[in-house]
Amino acid sequence: MKKIFSRRDFVKGIASVGGLVAVSKLPALADDGAAFFPSRGKWERLVLAYNQIEIGATKPFSILHISDTHLTQAYPHENTQSLKLKELRTKTFGGRQEEALRDSIKWAKENVDFLLHTGDLIDWQSEANFDLVKKYFGSETFGAVGNHEYSRSISPTGVKYNEDYKNGMRDKVAAAFPFDIAFDSKVVNGVNFVSLDDVFGYVTENQVERFHAEVKKGLPIILCMHVPFYTQKIWNASRKFWSAVGKKYSTLKDRPWECSGDIQLKDKVTSDFIAYLKNEKLLRGILAGHAHITIQDRFSPSAIEYVVGGNFHFHGQEIIFT
Ligand SMILES: [Fe+2]
Repeated sequence: MKKIFSRRDFVKGIASVGGLVAVSKLPALADDGAAFFPSRGKWERLVLAYNQIEIGATKPFSILHISDTHLTQAYPHENTQSLKLKELRTKTFGGRQEEALRDSIKWAKENVDFLLHTGDLIDWQSEANFDLVKKYFGSETFGAVGNHEYSRSISPTGVKYNEDYKNGMRDKVAAAFPFDIAFDSKVVNGVNFVSLDDVFGYVTENQVERFHAEVKKGLPIILCMHVPFYTQKIWNASRKFWSAVGKKYSTLKDRPWECSGDIQLKDKVTSDFIAYLKNEKLLRGILAGHAHITIQDRFSPSAIEYVVGGNFHFHGQEIIFT
């Protein structure tokens, strides 16, 4: 039997079980918007894209979807590597990531029903970064973790990115993010938001089983995760952006790029799952990040995949559900 949540129920519900960040539960923040564009509207440093999904919600609502904030903090007492990363990676991501997150949260409180984050909230595992996760999302967040939530350092060599790699690091991530980081779901106004950890490109048999249990609820599903599922258009755009900097477009043939997209095509559990999803009519949309570019492509007859660019750029997308 379908369980229908009103917004009031939803806001009340997440206080006890964790869920999408209800805007009424987001922290109250000081207005520091005057630092940029002081003579313009206070939210105009946010760069927002808009999309609408006609999904048959019991009540229309909208969310702010952000991803890839890449917080880069470390306390003075943390190890040398963390302190070096703080210096290096703060430059990489511009040094205003926390402001971007605060702007997003403030904007969400006034303009949408809830906030969704799909991973790489932090850039690597530091005490200060995990404390920021707890500070901004408290016990009421929903979304997905990213590959950087499992980073001890940036680009380590000789590492096999698999479930074993996560062991030993998983507990810290699980402690900071109150939802089930492997797989979770939350129903809002008749829409089932299902999140899973696909940070190294693959999914596990256990996640597939749990997804099938969600399908049995019979509700339309929005899949939330970090790494987009492969489509040719999203793949081409990522290759163009990441491996062709400084080159105008002519062809992608000479620009191979080994990454998680390849794993999705080669790993049987994952490729079977994606093939199944292409025919699952209850799947009505996919929300992802990771690529740091904003792009959409049709994933299946019933679902479009929406990839949102980096929140460290003050970027996000509002998705309207009707
Ligand atoms: Fe990222």
